[in-house]
Amino acid sequence: MSTPSGNPSASKIANVMQETRVFPPPSQFTRQALISSEAQYRELYERAKHDRDGFWGDLARQQLHWFRPFEEVFVGEGHQVAWFVGGQTNLSYNCLDVHLDRALGDRTAIVWEGEPGEQRRLTYTELHREVCKFANVLKRLGVQTGDVVSIYMPMTPELAIAMLACARIGAIHSVIFAGFSAEAVADRNQDARAKVQLTADGLYRRGKVLPLKDTIDEALTKSPTVQHCVVLQRVGNDVSMQVGRDHWWHDLMAATSADCPATPLDSETTSFILYTSGSTGKPKGIRHTTAGYNLWVKQTFAWVFDYKPTDLFWCTADCGWITGHSYIVYGPLSNAATILMYEGAPNFPAEDRFWDIIERHRVTILYTAPTAIRAFIKWGDHHVDKHDLSSLRLLGTVGEGINPEAWMWYHRKIGGERCPIVDTWWQTETGGIMMSPLPGITPTKPGSCTRPLPGVVPLIVDEDLQPVETDHGGMLCIAQPWPGMLRGIWGDDARFVQQYWTRVPGNYLTGDNARCDSDGYYWIMGRIDDVINVSGHRLSTIEIESALVSHPAVAEAAAVGRPDDLKGQAIAVFVTVKIANPSAELKDELKAHVRKEIGALAVPDDIRFTSALPKTRSGKIMRRLLRDIAAGKEDISQDTSTLEDYSILAKLRGDEE
Ligand code: WTA
Repeated sequence: MSTPSGNPSASKIANVMQETRVFPPPSQFTRQALISSEAQYRELYERAKHDRDGFWGDLARQQLHWFRPFEEVFVGEGHQVAWFVGGQTNLSYNCLDVHLDRALGDRTAIVWEGEPGEQRRLTYTELHREVCKFANVLKRLGVQTGDVVSIYMPMTPELAIAMLACARIGAIHSVIFAGFSAEAVADRNQDARAKVQLTADGLYRRGKVLPLKDTIDEALTKSPTVQHCVVLQRVGNDVSMQVGRDHWWHDLMAATSADCPATPLDSETTSFILYTSGSTGKPKGIRHTTAGYNLWVKQTFAWVFDYKPTDLFWCTADCGWITGHSYIVYGPLSNAATILMYEGAPNFPAEDRFWDIIERHRVTILYTAPTAIRAFIKWGDHHVDKHDLSSLRLLGTVGEGINPEAWMWYHRKIGGERCPIVDTWWQTETGGIMMSPLPGITPTKPGSCTRPLPGVVPLIVDEDLQPVETDHGGMLCIAQPWPGMLRGIWGDDARFVQQYWTRVPGNYLTGDNARCDSDGYYWIMGRIDDVINVSGHRLSTIEIESALVSHPAVAEAAAVGRPDDLKGQAIAVFVTVKIANPSAELKDELKAHVRKEIGALAVPDDIRFTSALPKTRSGKIMRRLLRDIAAGKEDISQDTSTLEDYSILAKLRGDEE
């Protein structure tokens, strides 16, 4: 596949390494910022590090409502930890009721725009009412504290309402991105033992209707634990409703009371699970808690986005990913923020949709992904130039590293050189942002997520577990527990311990490589495990391989990431087949097969047929070698001495079609 600008990304990585530009925060921004001096940051950072329990205890008392106060701030060590022990709180209460109690009920919570153009606004009072009603609906369907509710819905206010309704009664939501296939939904539903499914008749994507309910009908044939399915009417397409199992959202809501007090929940109660890719085939349900998670997202939102009541905050993620959980729903709403929520594609009806939205709604803070920024660059500046973006005061990125060229474009073209950029590094597992500039004080360097937030103590070690020197890359770990950290993998403690806590004992292993420069700035250098980051979405190579191997024609498959200017990484697969002379049609068939098994986001960009895969003598596929070949590198610099069959190398390069 060609890359849009023709630049091999390898040189971009080199660029990152050589980046020396520094952008100090604009003084007007600093003057009004929540954290407005380096000394203030230092004080917070040092206290959080050396008086961890005092620091977080004070914040938890100030920032969250407690039905019952906690007795201890922290107990445990390593992976077995508990925060705010003995206390009881509720995420939904902290996002809604506390604001009503402070007479903020008339403030707009959600400004929503559908892809076809409709608009809705919900005040905090209205949102509270809808959440209470839907929580009662869930109760009527038999949902109790600790039950899992699977959510597969379009980006409508009802998606946020559903999440908050679960949180209100202590039900655990498992939101599944509405681009996943029926197979993927069924896998997750089975793993989670989901009791109720929430979905919609369909969703709009680039002007077309995707029939969500059809996908769910298929998924539910393999989700034996699901007893009820609630269907939101969004697009009005024909759907089949199974009597007894399926119910229309509006029917259930019609006769329901809006009186539903939030259930006081122990601090460590599981608030949600969210499936993400790991280095084995099976997606893992990352488990987050109530109090610690809530405090983390509330506080990081306030620090990083410097939110003021006059702001309109727009995070362009989908609620199916952690970014949507933490910075569309729980972080902003805990801060009584006004958020913009957009349902559709950035290029519908035209490539200027985002800029049009910003201009019309006067968005002040934009939080998006590098992959989107690269697409905007490719679509052309004229789409941006048509619009007045002067309302913007702060920009953010998340999901993957941003290459300096894209950073500079974002800074100049979108930020008008006046908006700080916060490049936020974090993970599904961390719950919220871990490293990021503080917009009022941190001089930014394009491509660096800069420094850790208070409470985050990073450690970079080499293969021998020794701390690396300045500017040397190594495995990024977090050395001190923080309130937002994951508490487990749903139903698989052994995997949780093995994946995050074993390789570097006593530390949380992030799975990313990083280096720290002489200014104490961190530079993320990609994954150490077999995970590909496509358009900011984590995909495990083994999951893709398993999907391919489940096709009858395929004998063996290896998936690797290859640099791609637009998507960050593209998926290249090397496939050995059971038949002679595989055709080009088989490639299309395999793509369709992966689409069915996992979803469109996992469809390989390149498929190469080969008679054998390169393996070590012990039989391990040499992925690094395949990565180099997929990237079109001429000289394979790495050690091939363990390669079993040298002739394979030449064959692979020639792509034996
Ligand atoms: C990558 C998304 C560089 C990283 C919130 C991480 C980043 C993975 C950045 C988590 C960033 C995320 N710079 N890399 N600012 N943000 N990543 O779980 O590899 O979907 O481990 O969470 O994305 O992806 P996840």
